[in-house]
Amino acid sequence: MSNIILIGFMGSGKTAVGQALAKELGYAFIDTDEIIETGEKRTIGNIFMTEGEEYFRGLETNALKSLTGIDQTIVSTGGGIILKEENLPLLKGLGKVVYLSASHEVIYDRIKDETHRPLLRVSDPKKEIGDLLAKREEKYKKAADIIIDTSGKEVDVIVRELIKWQRSK
Ligand code: S3P
Repeated sequence: MSNIILIGFMGSGKTAVGQALAKELGYAFIDTDEIIETGEKRTIGNIFMTEGEEYFRGLETNALKSLTGIDQTIVSTGGGIILKEENLPLLKGLGKVVYLSASHEVIYDRIKDETHRPLLRVSDPKKEIGDLLAKREEKYKKAADIIIDTSGKEVDVIVRELIKWQRSK
């Protein structure tokens, strides 16, 4: 089992890094948000709006469970995947867990012009990012086998770092 599971806040680069890493390693790429949207045949924004966050979190756990048995795959996860304690053994059971971290400023800068994330459709998204980060930081660290700071780094630099780490194990 040589999967790599990417966790981290919205805008930490999980999708961009995950896709580039998968290409480089010749692995498959899967995104838990995509599994959910495909299964529900609607967007995450719609799920949050009509069913609420708790319902979405249940779908996230189901998505993780559905991945049992995958191999040579990079899994990108939703930023809140670490919120449910029961997801931790599921994440660890799938492969090595990589926390892509970034500072509050960098995250805000990367996602300030994007509108598809329901949790950031608030009057002060910058403050919301800071509040959510403060609540989540320890949980990301607890779940991680390695922490990679992505602030100020190009995707290919992060990919090289990850490949070096994977080969060293
Ligand atoms: C969320 C992050 C989103 C998506 C949903 C909730 C979160 O995924 O799962 O909007 O709670 O941080 P990305 O991290 O891929 O944006």
